[in-house]
This record gives sequence, structure tokens and C-alpha cells, in this order.
Amino acid sequence: MTSTHDTLTPPPTVPAAARLLDLVMGNWRAGVVSAFAELGVADALRDEKLTPASIARHLGLANSTCTRFCTAAAAVGLLDAGADGTVSLSELGRTLLSESPGSMRNFARWCGSTADRTTWSQLHTAVRTGRSPFPAIHGTDVWEFLQTRPADAAVFDAAMTELSRNVIGPVVGVLDLTSFSSVTDVGGGRGALLAAILKSAPHLRGVLFDQADVVSLAPDVLRSAGVADRVTIIAGSFFDSVPSGSDLFVISNVLHDWDDDRTRAILGSISSAMSPGHQIAIVEAVAGVDDRFDEAIALMDMDMLALCEGKQRTVGEFRDLLAEFGLTLTAIDRAGLQSVVRATKTD
Ligand SMILES: C[S@@+](CC[C@H](N)C(=O)[O-])C[C@H]1O[C@@H](n2cnc3c(N)ncnc32)[C@H](O)[C@@H]1O
Repeated sequence: MTSTHDTLTPPPTVPAAARLLDLVMGNWRAGVVSAFAELGVADALRDEKLTPASIARHLGLANSTCTRFCTAAAAVGLLDAGADGTVSLSELGRTLLSESPGSMRNFARWCGSTADRTTWSQLHTAVRTGRSPFPAIHGTDVWEFLQTRPADAAVFDAAMTELSRNVIGPVVGVLDLTSFSSVTDVGGGRGALLAAILKSAPHLRGVLFDQADVVSLAPDVLRSAGVADRVTIIAGSFFDSVPSGSDLFVISNVLHDWDDDRTRAILGSISSAMSPGHQIAIVEAVAGVDDRFDEAIALMDMDMLALCEGKQRTVGEFRDLLAEFGLTLTAIDRAGLQSVVRATKTD
């Protein structure tokens, strides 16, 4: 029961400097999560309770630093510490298991990679200039960088697959697929979203369109989803053209990678492949739809700016861009963090 005294006592406040310190130390927290993912600590533990010494032996780590690292990992919530000196995976830590259905291991690895961390260290430069610092740091833009760095590209592609796997269910849930006969996923990566769409709509055929080195990894994904026989894989660049022949074009988490001019080029290619009545569904975190995910979308916007000069757009920005290509925005549906913006080709 609350006493009068309790009600009148102002809640303890944390000084602003301490809250700021906590905010800045978020960087170190993320560093522990990424190191945990990179080292494969979750895979070493699985369902077991182990001492830090045996984790160190298993992973070939220095004993004393592994003990200190386990303390830090427990402090940020990845490990549960037992009274007997062992540690086990917490619910949070289990998301860093390589094979768990909702695994975020590769996303954590990408965010801790030298490529991503050095880029974020220059966010102030990006804000000052409006340009991505990536080329100045790494010598090329992020896309060329990934094409020449297979190890980084493997982590990046797997990270994108993990992110989309975790949002695919809600996205497929809001797509009304009954009136379409064929869907092209533009920049569809390894085909995870297309596979889920086709599984939910057995009457549909699909086209997976992405760069050659990316679609080369798609057949396994499509086969294991049982939809490979309904998919045509086409390699190419959406800056040149997009294959026609489908009545629905999905583009998921691609337009936010590009500035407005490059986005216009991509939308132009898609619009040229469409006939009147055909539909485009843009899947992205759209700013300002409601306030539930404002912080996450604002931070993603900074990530896009720093990494590739892209941006998270508002509904109004999408409406205006689409209208330039004869595409009329007809619906916007929230699907978790993402939204699905649908537009119909009108001329
Ligand atoms: C952030 S990923 C999104 C992948 C997938 N749609 C998803 O939602 O997970 C961006 C995709 O755009 C593709 N991409 C980049 N440049 C491209 C181009 N010029 N032509 C076609 N695809 C491209 C990349 O290969 C990558 O698969």
C-alpha cells in the first residue's frame, strides 16, 4: 500500500550527467554484444552451464580475459551467472546462437565490424557534409567494398537476411496477394522474403532480381523453402533496368540505401517494367507513420546517412517520389518496425 509520505516523495532522479554517461556507454555495451557474437560464445555454450575457463579452452581465448569478458557479458544481460561460478545463456544471449530461428548473430557481427564501426566514428562528418564518410575511410563506397571483400560481404548479407527474417511474417501478413499472378522482388537478396511470399500464396510465381554475386546464394534458400520451382532468378542492376512480366513488384529495404537521385533511377526502372494497374509494394521503416518506433527509425536514418548516403523517408516523401513515375500511393500498412507502402501504376 502506498503511504501519503511515499506519494509525496518525488521519485529519485538520475542526474543528467549520469544519464548521458549511460547513453555514451551504449557504444561499449554494443561492443560487448558484437564481440560475443564474433567470438561465437553463444554457440560454445548452447544449453550448457560452463565456467569461463572452459569457454576459454573451447574458443582458444586467454583465460583471465575470458573471465572478465563473461562478467561484462553477464552485466549487459547476455549471460546468467550461477552461484557455482558457471555461466549460461540468457534469453537475450540465445539470440546470438548461429542457428536459432531469430538469430541476430551476423547483424551484431556487422555492427561490430571495422567497416561499420569506423564509419559510425565519422557520423559528425556525415552530418557536416551530407556525404557518407565511407569512401574517405575505405577507398570505395560500401557496395563496391562489399563486392571486393567476400568475408565482410558474407557477414553483411547474412545480417540482412537475419533482419528481414525477423520482419517477414508481419510483412507477408499485410500483403494482399490474391489478385496477383507473379511477383518480382527487386534487390531481393538471397530470396528470403520472396520465399515467404510464395509459401503464403501457392498460386503465385516469383522473380528474384539482384546482383549476380548475391543471387548466386539464393537457390539454397528457395529450395529449402520448397518454392524453387516457382522462381526465376535474374541477375542485373536496377540502375540499368528491371525485368518486366510481373503484376506486383516488391522492393524491401533497398530504397533507404540511396539518395533521392539514385532512388528516382530505381523507381524509374521499376515503373518502366510495369503496366497500368500493376502494383509496387515498398517495404521499409517509414518515418512518422506512428510514434512507436520513432527512435529506432531515427537511428536507422543516421546509419543510412553514414554508410551510404541513404535515408529513411516519410509517407509524404514516398508519395511525392512515386507520383513522379505515375505511381499513386494507395495504402500504407504497419508491419512491426517496417511499413508496406503500396502504389498502383496509373499511367
Ligand atoms: C539492404 S539489402 C536488402 C535485401 C532484401 N531486399 C531484404 O529486405 O533483406 C539491399 C539489396 O540491394 C541489392 N542491390 C544493391 N545494388 C543493386 C543493384 N544495382 N541492382 C540490383 N540490386 C542491388 C543488394 O545486393 C542487396 O541485396
